[in-house]
Amino acid sequence: MQYRRLGASGLQLSALSFGAWVTFGNQVGRGEARELLAAAWDHGINFFDNAETYANGEAERVMGDALADLRLPRDSWCVSSKVYFGAVDRPAPTQRGLSRKHVHDACHEALRRLRVDYLDLFFCHRPDPDTPIAETVWAMDTLVRQGKVLYWGTSEWPAQAIREAHKVARAHHLVAPTMEQPQYNLLHRERVELEYAPLYSELGLGTTIWSPLASGLLTGKYNKGVPVDSRLAQGSYAWLRDALLSDPEAKRVERAQRFTKVAEELGVAPAPLAIAWCLHNPHVSTVMLGATKVAQLLQNLEALDLAERFDDATWSRLEAATS
Ligand SMILES: NC(=O)c1ccc[n+]([C@@H]2O[C@H](COP(=O)([O-])OP(=O)(O)OC[C@H]3O[C@@H](n4cnc5c(N)ncnc54)[C@H](OP(=O)(O)O)[C@@H]3O)[C@@H](O)[C@H]2O)c1
Repeated sequence: MQYRRLGASGLQLSALSFGAWVTFGNQVGRGEARELLAAAWDHGINFFDNAETYANGEAERVMGDALADLRLPRDSWCVSSKVYFGAVDRPAPTQRGLSRKHVHDACHEALRRLRVDYLDLFFCHRPDPDTPIAETVWAMDTLVRQGKVLYWGTSEWPAQAIREAHKVARAHHLVAPTMEQPQYNLLHRERVELEYAPLYSELGLGTTIWSPLASGLLTGKYNKGVPVDSRLAQGSYAWLRDALLSDPEAKRVERAQRFTKVAEELGVAPAPLAIAWCLHNPHVSTVMLGATKVAQLLQNLEALDLAERFDDATWSRLEAATS
């Protein structure tokens, strides 16, 4: 495993990390979740990602129980949560968003479900148009000063809102956001490569990037339809299937087909190749993986070697094939 600094901070996260979205508390049972976390840990992964909204808190419960059961030294791994969407199906106005109240409550609930005394990373899962940014910055600063959160950040915030949070933090000597959690893969590049480009040097922004396989599209598994046991066949994720497969403009399946053809020509599996391409970007602090099976996770870890093996001409070829 390689370890990378989380932006300008001193925190060293594994270049590949592991998250619980869709899988824990849904597709994957407790025993399998424990096996996945154990396999990740055995291969040097030290960061596990979660959120209040994943399976309405159940993903955090499953992860917390598995981590406690594995008895890994608490100072050797990092865990995150995210606040915004709430942890119930129809949240009351105070059960969602980025108000001081919900940021406070969500942090304490995540600590309880994950069975930890502090969150290493805590993200604002989306911008909240109904809460002043200053209120959220103050709320996060309080949690950091109380020792309940070590690093706080944002997820899918516009660059301008991240700048605004830093401005508030500077003006009041508060703790500023350290990292952003954006989607980044060969089919979705603009925010990380263009919108955030000035922020890496200006603010020392770190990134924990999500969906490196575009929910599995870049494995090639959707090239000829939707396999019955796959993510996009899950009834409750029909919205995701439609978003990824039914947008004629985006042509995602065709782009994934072209990508898998290049992978075949290179003689490598498409999944680790797509992840290796993400690792190749130096502004990516960690690539967050998802998996329903240990075999998938092990295959994806091959990305570390592929990132070293290929040169710029190969990365350009992949970009051309998927553009
Ligand atoms: N901040 C945010 O808004 C946000 C949003 C999304 C995700 N995230 C975080 O990022 C993490 C990773 O995102 P993601 O799960 O969408 O990542 P992803 O790598 O794009 O998709 C993972 C899914 O692809 C399939 N897969 C993975 N490896 C495979 C392989 N080698 N062969 C075949 N299929 C394979 C599996 O689904 P099936 O086996 O079911 O097909 C797996 O669950 C999440 O767990 C979460 O922690 C954050």
